[in-house]
Amino acid sequence: MSDAAAYDEADRTALERALVLDTVRVTEQAAIAASRVAGMGDEDLVDTAGTEAMRRVLNELEIDGRVVIGEGERDHAPMLYIGEKVGRGGQGAWPVDIAVDPVEGTGIAARMVSGAVAVIALSERGGLLQAPDVYMEKLIVGPPAAGKVDPAWPVAANLQAIAASIGRPVSDLTVAILDRPRHERLLAEVRAAGARVKLIGDGDVIAALSAAIRGTNLHAVMGTGGAPEGVIAAAALRCLGGEIHGRFLARDDDERARLETAGVAEGRTYSTNELAPGREIVFSATGITDGDLIRGVKFFGQGARTHTVSMGLRSRVIRFADGVHLLGEGARVHVQL
Ligand code: FBP
Repeated sequence: MSDAAAYDEADRTALERALVLDTVRVTEQAAIAASRVAGMGDEDLVDTAGTEAMRRVLNELEIDGRVVIGEGERDHAPMLYIGEKVGRGGQGAWPVDIAVDPVEGTGIAARMVSGAVAVIALSERGGLLQAPDVYMEKLIVGPPAAGKVDPAWPVAANLQAIAASIGRPVSDLTVAILDRPRHERLLAEVRAAGARVKLIGDGDVIAALSAAIRGTNLHAVMGTGGAPEGVIAAAALRCLGGEIHGRFLARDDDERARLETAGVAEGRTYSTNELAPGREIVFSATGITDGDLIRGVKFFGQGARTHTVSMGLRSRVIRFADGVHLLGEGARVHVQL
């Protein structure tokens, strides 16, 4: 992770590889902290716990980090705000851009419903689009259908293309869509075409990952969600070989102005490579509550168990990590298979 001038290709691979491992701890600790207070019905509590823990671990890393997607603008977010510097910094520290969502799915975490994760993506400087917090219309598919769908086509045509890419009928497909009134028409179109819909309460980043991983029984994500989540999903999809088509939407003049300030074109569809153009990309997500792809945090006597999916684009690794964490001085080891 570096300026091209400062590091050669082998250095870059080694740096990314080490960061893939380091970053797992960032989401693990955020998930443990958030999970401690999940199910209490308090979204702020869960978000603050996850954010504090994520920031603490990020500040222990040998990086010169800059938050490009975070908890909000500096005047609204006390921690992990856009532009905040994180990491130990100093000479030799790798300059990286960082996109975080310490609790992706605060609502579901507060209610202890499945699918909440702590998530982060890192890249060399400029490797993640600095998307403002507006909506994005998304079409997300896995590797077989990458390059074979087009958001300008009717929904039924895209479903046909996805089905053809895996040699199955449309009736075998499942599409994840956020359960929102704005998706009424989309839902009707998907169902009329013969595919099944998995309605999700929150959390379209982990749905994006599932669509790009075989065996999850999820084949696409469609509909409108957060633009920052679209960039984080793009980072993971780069590593997984999947694809996102993301169109930025502005609901009012304020959002239009924010898009303009960010240099992002309203209404244009951005590709996976445009949303996450990095040459080095590191991604990690740890379950807070149980999900289809990764399990949530389980606490035991003196520790916690976590499940994480982590990836490195250049180092070509996708790793599922099962961690046992001993908490507190004198905690006794008690590992169960
Ligand atoms: P949070 O991480 O802020 O809780 O967002 C969860 C989420 O469901 C995202 O996964 C999704 O992209 C977005 O919110 C959808 O926004 P909205 O709830 O406004 O429809």
